[in-house]
Amino acid sequence: MAEHPVSIDRYAVVGNPVAHSLSPRIHLSFAGQMQQQISYEAIELAIDDFPAQIEKLQQQGLKGANVTVPFKQQAWEICSQRSPRAEQAGAVNTLSFNDNGEISGDNTDGTGLTRDLQDNHDIRIPHRKILILGAGGAVRGVLAPLLALEPERLVIANRTLKKAEILASDFISAGAVSTCGYDDLGADKFDLIINATAAGLSDQVPPLNEKVIGSNSICYDLMYRLDGPTAFVAWARSRGAASAIDGLGMLVEQAAESFYIWRGVRVNTSEVIDNLRDKF
Ligand code: ATR
Repeated sequence: MAEHPVSIDRYAVVGNPVAHSLSPRIHLSFAGQMQQQISYEAIELAIDDFPAQIEKLQQQGLKGANVTVPFKQQAWEICSQRSPRAEQAGAVNTLSFNDNGEISGDNTDGTGLTRDLQDNHDIRIPHRKILILGAGGAVRGVLAPLLALEPERLVIANRTLKKAEILASDFISAGAVSTCGYDDLGADKFDLIINATAAGLSDQVPPLNEKVIGSNSICYDLMYRLDGPTAFVAWARSRGAASAIDGLGMLVEQAAESFYIWRGVRVNTSEVIDNLRDKF
């Protein structure tokens, strides 16, 4: 890790791989906007022994870390305190290293998504029909905040139905959740369709029948691309969705919530989102 004067608080995003993470750029933009001096770097951790590597960073004086794939669940395990939303998600994306040596964990992914939907895109969740594609860790992180906004219906569709069922069983008390396979979806239209699968990593889209897209449907991809539409965004546009949005705004919003946890100030996210889009 680079050497910094003691007066500058140090933060990092840890993951594997992490080299292409936009988090350093985003957090340094926030700090610039707030006229605060921090350092923020991307640190690739070895897959084995996450706790020991985090302890080392903590000993080196890191104040906080964002955690990305594949360590979010392990990050949850090493925390001595967790926020209710981290507790519910079973995953932590924001670690705070407290002066007494304790580690606090939070999960800002769900808040990042709902802020991007509501504040940046004026998309309403209450009384709407929502379809979520996928049943992995990404979905676990965003389910509770979405359900808290009381959609009329929230359906989780996944290739492996069992995985969706297990996931939904943890949230069933929170609202109107149901699960199905892609073939069982029928022709009911959804107001909001969220792609939370990993299909985009290989430039694919999940096997979704376009019948679920109506002329008012909004499609949202948790993934983002700066150099063009994601595969899902392109697919949704070509299938007549009212709009299709990628997850860059969510990325910036979850970062802003982490920044708030660490620094106690709320940043202007739209300026940072616009700058990121413009630069590519
Ligand atoms: P993450 O933590 O990013 O959610 P994950 O836990 O590995 O990653 O989950 C990946 C999700 O993407 C799963 O829901 C997976 O479906 P299965 O549970 O059936 O495997 C889904 N997924 C990955 N590739 C997909 C594809 N090509 N089409 C549809 N779903 C896909």
